[in-house]
Amino acid sequence: MTPTFRTSRPGSAADPSRRHIILVGLPGSGKSSVGRAVATQLGRTFLDLDLEIERREGRSISEIFGENGEAYFRAKELSLTKELQQVGNMILAPGGGWITIPDIVGLLRPPGRLIYLRVQPETALQRLGTRQTSRPLLTRPDPGAELKRLYGQRRAAYETADHVVDTELYSLQRVIEIVTELASSMG
Ligand code: S3P
Repeated sequence: MTPTFRTSRPGSAADPSRRHIILVGLPGSGKSSVGRAVATQLGRTFLDLDLEIERREGRSISEIFGENGEAYFRAKELSLTKELQQVGNMILAPGGGWITIPDIVGLLRPPGRLIYLRVQPETALQRLGTRQTSRPLLTRPDPGAELKRLYGQRRAAYETADHVVDTELYSLQRVIEIVTELASSMG
């Protein structure tokens, strides 16, 4: 059965013959805002994996972590990613820890392509501002230290992306333009 997602466009836009573009990076790197804008520019379907998991579970990511733990949430990310193998042509924004799930990238790439929105943890924390409270991994006593730790753990995995965009060098608008150009050149 074809899976259904609550995306920015009807499922018919999710052409399985075309590749997904997957935006990866730390919380605060801009995956969701950039992804949504790029999808609009290109007339493609956008899916925020965290929002889709929240919709299906009927509760927030914080509640999921609090009630069932991180491993349960990672299992939800994995099963949703498997469903995404059956569709294509989407701009995908998984959570920052998605890339840590063993073998998950290989489920979508090839043919999918990864774009890494690079940001230093200090800048990411500033950008998140009060929104850090909705990230259960950042509600610990020192969220800055936690984000640095996560960055240290994940950096090498993020760098395996097909393209890296240094988001600190550009305005949000320019990042959206760059990612739109990259995504359209990758087909
Ligand atoms: C997480 C990042 C969050 C969300 C969850 C875990 C992480 O997504 O998936 O809180 O492990 O970095 P964002 O990157 O959109 O904040």
